[in-house]
Order: sequence, then structure tokens, then C-alpha cells
Amino acid sequence: MDNRAIGVFDSGLGGLTAVRQLHLAMPNENIIYFGDTGRVPYGSRSRRTVLNYARQDVAFLNQHHIKAIVIACGTVSSQVLGDIKAENTIPIVGVVEPTCYAAMRKTKNNRIGIIGTKGTVRSGAYEAKLHTLDPSVHTIARPCPLFVPLVEAGRFQPDDRVTQLVIEEYLAEIRDFDVDTLILGCTHYPLLREAIQAFMGDTVTLIDSGAEAAKYVRKFLDPAQPGKGSTEYYVSDDPDSFDEYAEMFLGEPAGVRAQLVEIASY
Ligand code: DGL
Repeated sequence: MDNRAIGVFDSGLGGLTAVRQLHLAMPNENIIYFGDTGRVPYGSRSRRTVLNYARQDVAFLNQHHIKAIVIACGTVSSQVLGDIKAENTIPIVGVVEPTCYAAMRKTKNNRIGIIGTKGTVRSGAYEAKLHTLDPSVHTIARPCPLFVPLVEAGRFQPDDRVTQLVIEEYLAEIRDFDVDTLILGCTHYPLLREAIQAFMGDTVTLIDSGAEAAKYVRKFLDPAQPGKGSTEYYVSDDPDSFDEYAEMFLGEPAGVRAQLVEIASY
């Protein structure tokens, strides 16, 4: 039994969709969550900047007593997971690998769509992993840069006309490609799940990357003792707005206040 916490980080609050899954699947684990709300988004930044930010995020988490890290950010996972793993000794799980395993288990027609931030799609990491799992898989990947601002603005209701238009613009080609599985390669996107599902149709399975990473980390853990674990939340900008928005990602009130971190000092 190992009661040390699992560290989870994201560029913002999207990674709370992974925490939600950890709460469901491993309620006894202690969790330290860091959301880099002062520097979000990462998705439009260079690889070099993403690596610098990710190193600071990991350095902050490493100050706590943690036994593993879940990188609940598609942008960081797809571009710099290898660097972060090489620099740390505890298990580090990104979203790409577990999500690809889940997509390959689900697809029946071997046609998989991938959506994510610009940085994620530019990296080609999802396609590369899918092709190592099955070289015959057909993939189509598209960046959806307006999805994160829409989610952050609370515009994720399936009947929101603006959101519907943006979804149609980004996903029409993917739907025409006849995918039966769509990877939500950014941890903000599960909030758009209903609207995306309505556009793609019920026969398409949506894969939630944060949730898959959260389930996957279990393989690398000595679990915590039975009993309810606790979660601490840290952000790099206004903790008050964390309280306002966290519930929509977590599916329940955070229950505790987020604490402010001077992340640039790490
Ligand atoms: N949550 C981030 C990701 O999964 C998206 C937000 C960003 O661009 O930083 O890539």
C-alpha cells in the first residue's frame, strides 16, 4: 500500500476530466492537481515553450509526496512526454498511449478520427501510435482551435448555435471519412461530448483521453490504503474562478478551495 498522492497536471482545467475519472475508479487515491490557468492555452505554443512549462509543472508536483504523474494534457503528452519521462524516475503517464489502446479496442471498421489542439495534431503522435498498434488503420486528424475557448466560455450545450456551427466546420470531413471511433485528444473536449455526438451520430464511439489516462495509471501503482482519498487543487491564476468552473469539469463541486502557485519560480 502506498498512500503517496498521484500528481495530475494540465494547461488549465481540462485535466479535471481525468481527476473525475480517478475519483470514480480509484476513490482511495490522494491527488494533487495543478492547472496552469495563468498560461493556458499550451496548444498554440512552440514545442520548446510547452517543454519549459511542462518541466515547471512537474517540478511543482515533485515537491509534493507523489508516486506517479498523469499528464492530463494532450498538447504536453503528444509533444514532450519522452523528455519528461527521461528526466523523472516515478511513472509518468500521458494521454496518447492509453487513448490509442482504447480506440483500437473499439473500432470495428479500422477508421479512427483524432481531434486536438494545433500542437497535438501537428505532432502526429496519435497517428504514429495507432499505426504501431495496427499498420492498416486509417486515420484522419484535425485541429479544433476554437473548442477550448468555447468550453472555457461555457458554450458547450448541444443546442448552442455557435458551437454547432464550429463543430460542423471542424468535424464534417471527419464524419465524411466514415470513422466509427473519434479520439477527443484534448482534455477540454469531453465537455463538448453531447454536441459532438449529436453531430457525428450514435454509431461513432467517442474516446475521452483524460479518462483513459486516468484508468491506465492504475497499472503502474501500488494502490493507496482503503478509505477515501483527498484531492488538493493548485492553479497559477485566480483561484476564485477555479471554484466557479471546476464543477463543470469534475461533475461535482471541488469541495475545497484551489491554492495559488507561482509556477514561473519552479
Ligand atoms: N487541455 C489542453 C490539451 O489537452 C488543451 C488546452 C490548451 O491548449 O492548453 O491539449
